[in-house]
Amino acid sequence: ARARIPLVAGNWKMNFDHLEATYFVQKLAWLLRDAHFDFKRCEVTLMPSFTSLRSVQVLVQADKLKITYGAQSVSVTNQGAFTGDVSADMLARLGCSYVIVGHSERRKYHPEDDANIVDQVRAVLTAGMQPILCVGESMQERRKGIALDYAVGQVHDVTRDLSDEEASRLVIAYEPVWAIGTGLVATPQNAQDAALAIRNDLTESFGSDVAQSVRILYGGSVSSRNAVELISEPDVDGFLIGGASLDPEELAKICRLT
Ligand code: G3P
Repeated sequence: ARARIPLVAGNWKMNFDHLEATYFVQKLAWLLRDAHFDFKRCEVTLMPSFTSLRSVQVLVQADKLKITYGAQSVSVTNQGAFTGDVSADMLARLGCSYVIVGHSERRKYHPEDDANIVDQVRAVLTAGMQPILCVGESMQERRKGIALDYAVGQVHDVTRDLSDEEASRLVIAYEPVWAIGTGLVATPQNAQDAALAIRNDLTESFGSDVAQSVRILYGGSVSSRNAVELISEPDVDGFLIGGASLDPEELAKICRLT
């Protein structure tokens, strides 16, 4: 049996206003209840836009839902003159369990470099939440044959100054950039090789207890058609899902298959 409880995380990106988010959560909860879904066997979390978080919180509390939720990014500072930013404490106060950090779309469209990503991880951990740290190579590195080194290097650079306790609260998402939104899914063997290489690096840095407790997700064109073979790999502990997380029926199906 798997020691780590798998995590299915829906990254909605910039989709759904708060009314659509509310409708979606109700529908997903209903579908999972109808299927007698066991949340002790697999955790389900949603990452809506900032504008929907309060609505999702109210619904989760009112209906005592077991679905958790989180945010897609966070400020590195705690408060002050940072127009447009949202702090980790604000997210924690809204009941967020997770924050995605370093998604390739953030790295591309915003000035998020490794130093900034380290600070986001630290801010999330300090506020008592769990970062979902995204790493993964582009087609360029894959073609050069350095895909694994690249992804492991990204993890290493961001995590090296964390304490063992901090590292044990990380979730890592291996999302090869070429697989995001393209329909080109990594093979189960690709995903396993990357997850294992990342876990080996965590073992070297933090020891085996920490490395064995960290969940490593795969992301990139995950759907109900490929979820079963991906989750069968021993080091793949769940999914970070974009497109397929926008359809409640498809997402419920992936949850059941995970
Ligand atoms: O964070 C999830 C994501 O980037 C993968 O997107 O649409 O390929 O599932 P998608």
